[in-house]
Amino acid sequence: MTNWHERWTSQQTGWHRAVYNDLLLKHWPSVGAAASSNVLVPLCGKSLDMDWFAQKGHTVTGLELVSRPVEDFFEERGLVPEKEEFANLVRYSASPFVLIQGDLFNVQPAQVQADAWYDRAAMVALPSSMREAYVGQLRALTRAGAVGLLITFSYPPHELEGPPFSLPDEEVEALFSEHFELECLERITLEDERGRGLSSSHSAVYKLIRR
Ligand SMILES: C[S@@+](CC[C@H](N)C(=O)[O-])C[C@H]1O[C@@H](n2cnc3c(N)ncnc32)[C@H](O)[C@@H]1O
Repeated sequence: MTNWHERWTSQQTGWHRAVYNDLLLKHWPSVGAAASSNVLVPLCGKSLDMDWFAQKGHTVTGLELVSRPVEDFFEERGLVPEKEEFANLVRYSASPFVLIQGDLFNVQPAQVQADAWYDRAAMVALPSSMREAYVGQLRALTRAGAVGLLITFSYPPHELEGPPFSLPDEEVEALFSEHFELECLERITLEDERGRGLSSSHSAVYKLIRR
């Protein structure tokens, strides 16, 4: 099991980006989320993309296991959040952001009902064995008709000990198709991952609609 606390403490956070995700900027308009949407960002880290959602007029609910990135997120923006502890979780809020610190699987539907969601480096951070439960949580924490954007990463699984764990198209189809409509918006062959020892790797961008 990945020690995420250790990763944040030792700053082994190679996934964190200092710029907005270009695939988010390109594809979010196709997702069709209303400006008033509350956007769920599971496994959010301290992603800058949450600022982009705020600029679009959305409110943001991030879910993050480790307290360090949550506290950094508010501090780096000069925000002083209200802090409320409940049932193994800590809710930090400073409008338009609510970040819930704790295990995503402990979050209850009564606490979060999002209109939209964004998954970048979230589902691929979880091993295959946890993904059915993850998709179940997404379904539980979003409203019927909620729209989502999922960015995947896939590679020959024996070539890397994740995270990120390979998430092939077939697995996306298998896990989502029962309760979500899905449409692949783009498939990309990645050229810059050979340094990690991957002979080939791809990303796919999906639009999802929760039925
Ligand atoms: C690879 S990082 C991606 C962060 C963010 N999505 C981004 O793009 O910068 C995955 C994050 O998920 C968090 N995480 C892992 N397991 C989790 C869980 N069960 N519940 C909530 N967060 C979790 C980790 O602490 C880490 O910050």
